[in-house]
Order: sequence, then C-alpha cells, then structure tokens
Amino acid sequence: MAICYQSPIKPISITPSTNLSTPRTLRCNLSFPSKTLTTEPEPVFTSVKSFAPATVANLGPGFDFLGCAVDGVGDYVTLRIDPQVHPGEISISDISGVGNSAKKLSKNPLWNCAGIAAIEVMKMLGIRSVGLSLSLEKGLPLGSGLGSSAASAAAAAVAVNEIFGGKLGVSELVLAGLESEAKVSGYHADNIAPAIMGGFVLIRSYDPLEFIQLKFPMEKELFFVLVNPEFEAPTKKMRAVLPSEIGMSHHVWNCSQAGALVASVLQGDLRGLGKALSSDKIVEPRRAPLIPGMEGVKRAAIDAGAFGCTISGAGPTAVAVTDHEERGKEIGEKMVEAFLQEGNLKASAMIKRLDRVGARVVSSIPR
Ligand code: HSE
Repeated sequence: MAICYQSPIKPISITPSTNLSTPRTLRCNLSFPSKTLTTEPEPVFTSVKSFAPATVANLGPGFDFLGCAVDGVGDYVTLRIDPQVHPGEISISDISGVGNSAKKLSKNPLWNCAGIAAIEVMKMLGIRSVGLSLSLEKGLPLGSGLGSSAASAAAAAVAVNEIFGGKLGVSELVLAGLESEAKVSGYHADNIAPAIMGGFVLIRSYDPLEFIQLKFPMEKELFFVLVNPEFEAPTKKMRAVLPSEIGMSHHVWNCSQAGALVASVLQGDLRGLGKALSSDKIVEPRRAPLIPGMEGVKRAAIDAGAFGCTISGAGPTAVAVTDHEERGKEIGEKMVEAFLQEGNLKASAMIKRLDRVGARVVSSIPR
C-alpha cells in the first residue's frame, strides 16, 4: 500500500501499487484516513527534465471517463533545486513554446496548471527543506482539446516526484494532476490519467478515484488524425453548454457505444473503435455547432476513409482514426479543407500513433 496526502488535512490511501507495464485497476480512496509519509525525502537530482504527451479525452461516448495518449507531441518541464527559492516553495522561472502560451499563462504557481500539480506533489511528499524552480515548455496550444493543461500538470508532477527519488506511484500523480485540472478546467481525469499513464484509460469512478488501463494490442497499427483549427474552445465554456439531464434512450445508446469502444480497444478492432468514436449522441451534438465547420469536417473524414471521427476533448481539434499512416495524411488534408470551406477556419493536421508510455523523465543531473 502506498500512502499520500492530497492536502495537509486530507489523507489518501492508495492501493494497490503495481507495475507500469501491466493492465491494472488503480484506486485512490479520498475519504479513507491512513498513515502519513513520515520522513521528508532528500533530493536525488539537482535537475530533472520531463515530458508528458497530448491526450484525446472522451473518445466520443466516453465523456469524462475515457481518454488516451498520443505519441510525439506534448509539454516539457525542467525542474531544479533552487537555493534562491524559499524552502518548501516553488517558483516558475520561465514559460515558452507554441502560440501565445508564454503571454497567456501565469507564472504564479497557484494559477498555473504545472505549478498547481507540482505543489500537490510537494505536499504529498512533505517537502519543507528545499525550494524548486520550474521552467515550462509548451508543445501544445492552449484550449485546443489536446489536453494541454493536463500535459503541463503531468510533466510537473512526474518531475517533482522524480527529483525526490520517485516515492509516489501513478495513482498519487494522477490525483495531483486532477487537483490542477479541477482548478483550471473542471474535475475530470480523462486527460490527466492517460497523460501520466499512457495508452487508453477508463476512469471507472471518481469517488473513490479508480481507473483501469485498457491495453491496445502491441501488434496493431492505430493512427490518430488530429486536425486543429485556429479557434479556441475553452473547456469551461464547452462544459457549460452540456445538458444537466439526459433521456433514458440516450443513456442506453451512449453506454452501449462506450462499452463497444472499450471492447474494440482491447480487441484491437479499429473499425469497431471508429464506429463507437463517431457515435456520441449526448455531448458532441451540443458542442459541434459551436466549432465552425465541425459537422462537415466529420463527414469529410468518414468520406475519406476514416473509421470514425469526433471532437477531441472539449474541442476544437477533430480526431479521426485509421490504420494506415498514408491514408491518415489524405484524411487529414480533407479535414483541413473542410474546416476552411465549411467553417472558414485555417487548420493544420498531424498524424500520430498511440503513446503507450505516458509522462516520463527525459534527462536528469544527479546530485
Ligand atoms: N472530458 C472533458 C470535457 C475533457 O469534454 O469537458 C476536456 O479536455
């Protein structure tokens, strides 16, 4: 059993502690009091650089409970022990990267998703004797639907944990990231869990927080076509348009489609996955009209041979799936054209594989 603290007054018990490479269920019981971490860990590194991938949340019918990580694009955090920073505190020294991130993001750690997650991990570890400084390099545009805030939070959580010897497990890191997500966009773990764990993740419950990693077969090809228009769709705003109640027929339909999606992931059935991805009758119909051209983009993706298409997270990025990289490029071109013709929006496409690793350290300097 691993023990951590969500805040100085709210103990958390986490079971079980398991190997990263096997499919598993992880549970964080937020209401079950437990023992404290008694000794403050010593730093093992003077500096750590970490990376966390972009994520696609919802996957159509899995609003707030399904997500996956995509390879080769994400955010970096460089964290160092800094004697200039007051012990037990963290300072954000620099923010750089794509678009207007540097201008838009706060350097106050209490208002920055990387800062919030880092502080949560420091609290969990009980860090009081060492000050840290953090530099954030954004590879993901803000408000794009690619899990930009979760990638920053995941990279920061992993970096803080690693600099102190990696005492916390995946569950604690997801909790730390979830605190950050809750403050920035809403209490949903379908970006942060896959950003930390990699692969496909099902959030089975929020209280207690419990998630299941879904193993997509290694031998199967899966390409995500991610088409990002020049348009911002803040998650808070896109959540505000959702219905507070739904009818029984939509409930039955979306549950069956989400079940089919999970089965398709486990079987490596891309056609089934695509069909389920396209099937949401609850969230997508409310959000698509707010993203100029989205309905036409979805049609264009399917006409070009994609197995399925939907909004990535809260949007505005559209995500389609295919099993051929070249076909993925063709599908991407058609989707970009459709955004321009039907939504008058410039857009860019990228073709990415599944990220199976999640947030990780990319370099470190030992003490
Ligand atoms: N499940 C969240 C939403 C993901 O759709 O609002 C946000 O990226």
